[in-house]
Amino acid sequence: MGEYDEVFRASVADPEKFWLDAAAGIDWHRAPSRALDASRPPFYRWFPDGELNICHNALDRHVDAGRGEQAALIYDSPVTGSQRTYSYAALRDEVATFAGALAGLGVGHGDRVVIYMPMVPEAAVAMLACARIGAVHSVVFGGFAPKELAVRIDDATPKVIVSASCGIEGKRVIEYKPLLDQAIELAAHKPERQVILQRPQAEAAMGERDVDWVRATAAATPAACVPVAATDPLYILYTSGTTGKPKGVVRDCGGYAVALNWSMPNVYAVGTGETIFTASDVGWVVGHSYIVYAPLLAGATSVLYEGKPVGTPDAGQFWRVMAEHGVKSMFTAPTAFRAIKKEDPRGEFTKSYDLSKLRYLFLAGERLDPETYRWASELLGIPVIDHWWQTETGWPIVANPAGIELLPLKPGSPTRPLPGWDVQVLDTAGKPVEAGTDGAIVVKLPMPPGSLPTLWNDDERFLSSYMKAFDGYYLTGDGGRIDSDGYVYVMGRTDDVINVAGHRLSTGGMEEVLAGHPDVAECAVIGVADQMKGQIPRGLVVLKAGVERDEEELRAELVQLVRDQIGAVASLKDVAVVAALPKTRSGKILRKTMRGIADGNADEPVPSTIESVDVLDALRPVLRRE
Ligand code: COA
Ligand code: AMP
Repeated sequence: MGEYDEVFRASVADPEKFWLDAAAGIDWHRAPSRALDASRPPFYRWFPDGELNICHNALDRHVDAGRGEQAALIYDSPVTGSQRTYSYAALRDEVATFAGALAGLGVGHGDRVVIYMPMVPEAAVAMLACARIGAVHSVVFGGFAPKELAVRIDDATPKVIVSASCGIEGKRVIEYKPLLDQAIELAAHKPERQVILQRPQAEAAMGERDVDWVRATAAATPAACVPVAATDPLYILYTSGTTGKPKGVVRDCGGYAVALNWSMPNVYAVGTGETIFTASDVGWVVGHSYIVYAPLLAGATSVLYEGKPVGTPDAGQFWRVMAEHGVKSMFTAPTAFRAIKKEDPRGEFTKSYDLSKLRYLFLAGERLDPETYRWASELLGIPVIDHWWQTETGWPIVANPAGIELLPLKPGSPTRPLPGWDVQVLDTAGKPVEAGTDGAIVVKLPMPPGSLPTLWNDDERFLSSYMKAFDGYYLTGDGGRIDSDGYVYVMGRTDDVINVAGHRLSTGGMEEVLAGHPDVAECAVIGVADQMKGQIPRGLVVLKAGVERDEEELRAELVQLVRDQIGAVASLKDVAVVAALPKTRSGKILRKTMRGIADGNADEPVPSTIESVDVLDALRPVLRRE
């Protein structure tokens, strides 16, 4: 039996002991006497009597242990031509001061703070400052439009919003402040204050409720860490579901701290003093967990990168970052490597940099296609580790646990379930399937620490989205199989969620926007395969009777509508006007069938419940772009 098997078996045989042992890696204000509270399933709570502060664990304890001068965060920004390194002591001081500024604005334990920022170190400072005073942050990705931000403001009802004057997308400067102002205008809930970080690329006009970051911090008294219950919320992170209304995934403090701290050495093979570079955005779960919290909990150094993998200035930036900062493990989405491969197929840029410290490349967020896997493996000559997880789970479910034991790789599989995750595949009746057979991927409850305890203010939706399909199991929303060696294969979402360039989006949300156009009678949005972004959305609209429109003009209006209401990140560029949509006799649109045809599956089965085969046949050339 290998080391992985032993560790996994220990986690399943005695989860109470396994996670209490892992909890010893965290400084507690009051140590937990037990791990799991299972008294109210499926609302499981971890470390119910523990008290801690995650910011203390991420910063102060490393300073107290004499590592104050070690680099905690390296901000590397080719788009602004700047770099800044924060030692643990410096970051602790910045965070304590900003926490004091927030407290001065009336933010306290349990209050919400929305953070709408580009990839600047102040975004991480704001997150950690909230954690320091027991406030709950909710980071909203900068690529979302004002309406999406407004929906999140209304759900989280923040006391304060922290934002910046602008973000930088390649060579473009995107002014954030007008977007924020519009969002607040649209929202029913009005925050008391907005703290604005002025960036020189575009200074924002300040309004009555706006406070300048520099002024707010200059006047602030540094705040101490406030001990909170392990079960208190640390953050709300909104993620796409099947409808336009996002789900507010809640993360607790104690379980998350324990799980992330455990994952750093065991999964990512990064320990104290070593460097991890996670190229994502603080607006996504990958950014929360592996740019901010986990590296700092582990006393490692985290690179926070502002820029794209290609473009400004070139496709060699990831290699430069890894060489300059001595990165041991890198983590990003496969799409980033596809972008690099397109610009520099032979990897010429790697020759300019010393990548000898790089040991592992971790990829997640979308399916890892075999070609990208092969290209990255051959180019770098290190293990390329596909791993699978979700916003809801907070940390990986299935991975090759490099820090415990590197298991043999099977291309196409993110390898095996990590300790704590009892992953199974069920058929539609809820019965476990045979090894190698496709079905719904589920996790047997309880899930390990770090996973979501509920949805913000919406226990009902938590139950209906995840817990009701199969009693006693969490529904991941992904379909796939487990082979006879226990390797998991994730084949894709079984709901209306798509992954565009590693960004999780709801086709249902896009349909709601298209349906709001006065000329549209009905519509469908499907995710179709794309060479660069993995998947892209494709809209199909049926016009209201009697409407005559120039197709190009209407298409431009619809694309703009989605951009305005959801954001550029939705990447909806392709909308076709069609005569009718294929449906079942009960009126359900056959999205999966259309998706299969669009992706070129020659033998895509046509459901026997179809209302009219003629409608589908008429659509085939459009779907296949013939
Ligand atoms: N603020 C404002 N706009 C943003 C934004 C942000 N934070 N992030 C993205 N956008 C905009 C982009 O500028 C683009 O606008 P455009 O349509 O006007 O060109 C649009 O949203 C779509 O963005 P994206 O899908 O990211 O496409 P891209 O061509 O700009 O970049 C990649 C493509 C692959 C290079 C980039 O997505 C990437 O590096 N992804 C991998 C890393 C990652 O972020 N993973 C997330 C989960 S791990
Ligand atoms: P997010 O919540 O944004 O992290 O997106 C989670 C979804 O991304 C999952 O439910 C999967 O559909 C997809 N995903 C993440 N990692 C992988 C992976 N390694 N392989 C296949 N799909 C993945």
